[in-house]
Amino acid sequence: VMTRNIELAVVAGDGIGIEVVEQGLAVLDAALATTDVTVTTTPFNLGAQRWHATGETLTDDDLAAIRTHDAILLGAIGDPSVPSGVLERGLLLKLRFALDHYVNLRPGKLYPGVKSPLAEPGEIDFVVVREGTEGPYVGNGGAIRVGTPHEVANEVSVNTAFGVERVVRDAFARAQARPRKHLTLVHKHNVLVHAGHLWRRTVEAVNADFPDVTSDYLHVDAATIFLTTNPSRFDVIVTDNLFGDILTDQAAAITGGIGLAASANINPDRTAPSMFEPVHGSAPDIAGQGKADPTATVLSVAMMLDHLGLPVEAARVEAAVAADLVERGGRVRSTTEVGTALADRVRG
Ligand code: NAI
Ligand code: MG
Repeated sequence: VMTRNIELAVVAGDGIGIEVVEQGLAVLDAALATTDVTVTTTPFNLGAQRWHATGETLTDDDLAAIRTHDAILLGAIGDPSVPSGVLERGLLLKLRFALDHYVNLRPGKLYPGVKSPLAEPGEIDFVVVREGTEGPYVGNGGAIRVGTPHEVANEVSVNTAFGVERVVRDAFARAQARPRKHLTLVHKHNVLVHAGHLWRRTVEAVNADFPDVTSDYLHVDAATIFLTTNPSRFDVIVTDNLFGDILTDQAAAITGGIGLAASANINPDRTAPSMFEPVHGSAPDIAGQGKADPTATVLSVAMMLDHLGLPVEAARVEAAVAADLVERGGRVRSTTEVGTALADRVRG
């Protein structure tokens, strides 16, 4: 019998990150219990605590050690005691850029039993393919005369033909594998003419290689309207780093909230480990109280299983979540109660 071991880097991080990752790992164990796949976890102490203790965010040694793993499970990073931007840029974005996570996948799915704030949500089942390594998030910019009336502050959006084509190609492939086979490009090419037309031309050109996929285009402002009035119209959305960040929070809101929203930072070429994390942050307002919903992390674990070539186990985890959500109603359960219920369902 061929056995296989998954080397998993675990960055639980701060606040509720620690609580939800514990439950995510319990469900992972349950999913693999009946297989010949084992997991070895390596915890990495990264985040606010480490920064306070050593002033470090992510060292070259940390990065080299993380690279040797098959995947990364991340909880959440951030604390009010750390100045805004230090951990986001120095840790989270650094991981995504260094490990070439150019596909940031965020499903927007309204599960049966989950209440949407929309009066008539209809069926919601789309996925946002957000570019992860370019756009305005690369840190190409700077400021001079800071704090004076003559301050100049620039953030440059970087869009390369190479970077746009690879993520657009990935998005078309995902659209082709879905029943509706539809792709929507979201940008703002009437104003951001340089980047916008590169994206538009790239989608048109790559579409020729995926003739069975239909595509359309929306300006980002119109996309926010349709996400509210007719989210069923979306199947695969491809967009840049900033628009994707914003649209996926809206997507989380209309599909039942931040406690359910999963994400994957994927390196499709597999030259470095991909990273799986809930969309939410460290929630300092409820941290340490056992109130955090671990479901988003568990769904991120399902995405990880899928990426690691274990689609049957991924489907079992997602089915366990779906079944739990149907029965959940308005009941208040602790982090551990939800995690245990999901792990029990996965075990069957
Ligand atoms: P947040 O997502 O941590 O919290 C927003 C609200 O949602 C809070 O009221 C929180 O209690 C609630 N919430 C979040 N996750 C929940 C869960 N699983 N179950 C139940 N309720 C949940 O966003 P916020 O407050 O803006 O940021 C807090 C810290 O997290 C900041 O330091 C921020 O920079 C960081 N952050 C980190 C992210 C990451 O690690 N990827 C993503 C977003 C924020
Ligand atoms: Mg965000």
